[in-house]
Amino acid sequence: MNKPSAASKTPASGIDPGLPVHVAVIMDGNGRWARQRGMPRVAGHRKGADAVRTLIRACAKRNIAYLTLFAFSSENWKRPKPEVQRLMELFVSALDKDVKELHSNNVRFRVIGDRSGLDEKIVQKIGNGELLTKDNDGLQLNVAINYGGKWDLLQACRSIAGRVSEGTLAASSIQIDDIESGLSTAGMPEPDLFIRTGGEHRISNFLMWQLAYTELYFTDVLWPDFDEAELELALTSFSGRQRRFGRTGEQLEAN
Ligand code: FPP
Repeated sequence: MNKPSAASKTPASGIDPGLPVHVAVIMDGNGRWARQRGMPRVAGHRKGADAVRTLIRACAKRNIAYLTLFAFSSENWKRPKPEVQRLMELFVSALDKDVKELHSNNVRFRVIGDRSGLDEKIVQKIGNGELLTKDNDGLQLNVAINYGGKWDLLQACRSIAGRVSEGTLAASSIQIDDIESGLSTAGMPEPDLFIRTGGEHRISNFLMWQLAYTELYFTDVLWPDFDEAELELALTSFSGRQRRFGRTGEQLEAN
């Protein structure tokens, strides 16, 4: 398993990045996929859930260590109520149907995001899935639900402020690690490769801090059509990137 130590924040560094350790995905285009076929938006989300299953299998097969999927943002509550409800039902049915299969494939399942905004029934099922898979050391799967990068940073700031106010941390001693240890991805390497489907070129309040040095890959392919061949195209693009992390290309070549 291509699993780095928790301390290695940016493991796939160097002139040949090879395979990403951590892939993060914004799965966009379900609605348009459905509209193009004269179907309701929820049909696109259902097909999108199949594409999620395909991607998880393809990542596990390639020994990609971490996969983080943006399933529902803190802003997605602004969608029409019936669509939000259908999406929540889809998460519940995925939690019921898929978690056991994830477990039997040694996948560790975690949810990142603000659970206080979620229905108690979903929170319970998430907790059960996390508990069931907590010792699995295969693919580490994070599903972002009611997640926002600003929310994530706010949590970290609150935790630091708490330590400062109780006197265990001096404001002048706050380090980057103090922020990172308060994020929902604490202990995980930062994403090496970010993929966004659906043709938009933005981060949309996803892992804002964690994407600082991530290679970005955008494709017009709509999420339900993102299959193993499309993943391969993204990985090929990634493997051709030179990750400099602030150094010069000449420095990397000399190494
Ligand atoms: C964006 O497409 C997609 C979402 C907001 C939902 C993502 C959900 C899934 C892929 C389904 C299930 C997920 C799991 C983890 C089981 P959009 O609706 O914004 O598409 P559009 O831009 O074409 O309207």
